Amino acid sequence: MPHAAPDFYAHPTAVLDEGCQVGRGSRVWHFSHVCAGADIGEGCTLGQNVFVADGVRLGRGVKVQNNVSLYGGVVCEDDVFLGPSVVFTNVKNPRSAVPRQGPGHYQTTHLEQGATVGANATLVCGVRLGRYAFVGAGSVVTRDVPAYALVYGTPARPQGWMSAHGHRLRFDRHGRATCPESGEQYELSPDEKTVQPVAATAPKLPKSRN
Ligand SMILES: CC(C)(COP(=O)(O)OP(=O)(O)OC[C@H]1O[C@@H](n2cnc3c(N)ncnc32)[C@H](O)[C@@H]1OP(=O)(O)O)[C@@H](O)C(=O)NCCC(=O)NCCS
Repeated sequence: MPHAAPDFYAHPTAVLDEGCQVGRGSRVWHFSHVCAGADIGEGCTLGQNVFVADGVRLGRGVKVQNNVSLYGGVVCEDDVFLGPSVVFTNVKNPRSAVPRQGPGHYQTTHLEQGATVGANATLVCGVRLGRYAFVGAGSVVTRDVPAYALVYGTPARPQGWMSAHGHRLRFDRHGRATCPESGEQYELSPDEKTVQPVAATAPKLPKSRN
């Protein structure tokens, strides 16, 4: 029988430790394990063989594909997407014979709203992905990624910019670009280090919770 919670679904093979929080409308699929101190928001999907450790926080609408382990110190804000087999880390200099367990030793890896991490990418602990940042498949992320930035490679390096709908942004000579799907416009800063959406052009996202 599935876990009979009134407001979320967990497959019968999933293990939900007593005390974990799983939000309304979330789904936890085969062989996944959510530890006691994990806090999962509404409308999240945890695919097959997902591990969520104590202290991990997921916002609303987070999608975690198969075979991802989220270790203590990981925070994912609303609408983060984690591709299959994404790898998190939480200790930068592990040694088997030197104890480095517990919150005092774990570094935070923080993914801001709407960030995407492609399949099989590795996030070295301590990095922060800005809003709607996009990490290409197979990358190794060793540094913070600005909002709307696209990075890939090993180590991951800036390769361009992506809209909130996941399209490459091509900026004109005035530093303006338009998302081909949503029509939302974006502005590149004069030093070309940051990108901001132009507020007046913001579309309603498909899953808008406004
Ligand atoms: C990063 C990404 C969005 C780029 O897509 P794109 O803009 O269509 O880029 P292109 O395919 O035109 O590739 C442009 C160049 O970047 C390279 N490239 C693209 N993605 C790359 C990646 N993840 N790592 C290294 N190089 C990459 C391509 O080889 C190509 O190089 P070339 O011009 O020398 O041939 C895409 O490749 C990607 O990784 N998406 C994530 C997919 C995923 O993991 N989904 C998970 C859910 S199923």
